[in-house]
Amino acid sequence: MKLIVAVDKKWGIGKNNGLLFDLKLDMKHFVEHTRGKVVVMGANTLKSLPNGMPLKNRTNIVLNPDGDIFDAIDKGYVLTTSLDELLEQIYAVEDNEVYVIGGAMMYHTLLPYCDTAYITKVDSDGEATVFFDDLDSLDNWSCVDEGEAIEDNGHTIRFCTYTNASPVEFKSTIDKKKGLTFEDCIDKFNARKK
Ligand SMILES: NC(=O)c1ccc[n+]([C@@H]2O[C@H](COP(=O)([O-])OP(=O)(O)OC[C@H]3O[C@@H](n4cnc5c(N)ncnc54)[C@H](OP(=O)(O)O)[C@@H]3O)[C@@H](O)[C@H]2O)c1
Repeated sequence: MKLIVAVDKKWGIGKNNGLLFDLKLDMKHFVEHTRGKVVVMGANTLKSLPNGMPLKNRTNIVLNPDGDIFDAIDKGYVLTTSLDELLEQIYAVEDNEVYVIGGAMMYHTLLPYCDTAYITKVDSDGEATVFFDDLDSLDNWSCVDEGEAIEDNGHTIRFCTYTNASPVEFKSTIDKKKGLTFEDCIDKFNARKK
């Protein structure tokens, strides 16, 4: 599983349940990575999207303990109401097809399970109120590619890639907790749709 995020110079990612910057090139980069893939997000991030709608051309999985299944069916996203349930859904998909796309709580919760993080570093202070973990301070994460500085709507940005030397095997986490098989997950998913 991978994650993709834009951070400011303090690893800030958002304020007032919105993004810090309006970055055209970064948005293009985000779409290129996630088009046709599975994206995983928290309830606040879904709320922050235009009209609270999931992203087009992607399978959207949302974690919301207070979620409404009718809203999910109406808008066309997969609702999960606990971390276990979310991990089961991810388990049913190819690892490299899944991108965690925010927000702060969701990134923090799923960071140990990710093997790769695509970090857009914005060389500005967006006066954020919510933050991403500082990957430079974590032993198991290292920056393997630091892109060249480019201008994006008045900000200097770099597309960077970090990798995790010891991602948690979430499949074995599920197996240990519940003994679920892939078929169990599919059955559970289909049962929820009925
Ligand atoms: N810069 C970027 O690239 C980027 C990308 C996406 C989002 N953002 C920003 O991030 C901000 C939103 O982040 P956020 O942290 O407020 O919200 P969030 O992560 O989008 O959603 C939080 C939701 O996820 C649930 N959740 C998270 N971890 C959980 C766990 N372990 N078990 C059960 N439920 C869990 C929370 O449950 P509870 O209700 O029980 O707490 C809550 O409903 C916004 O400002 C948004 O614009 C920035």
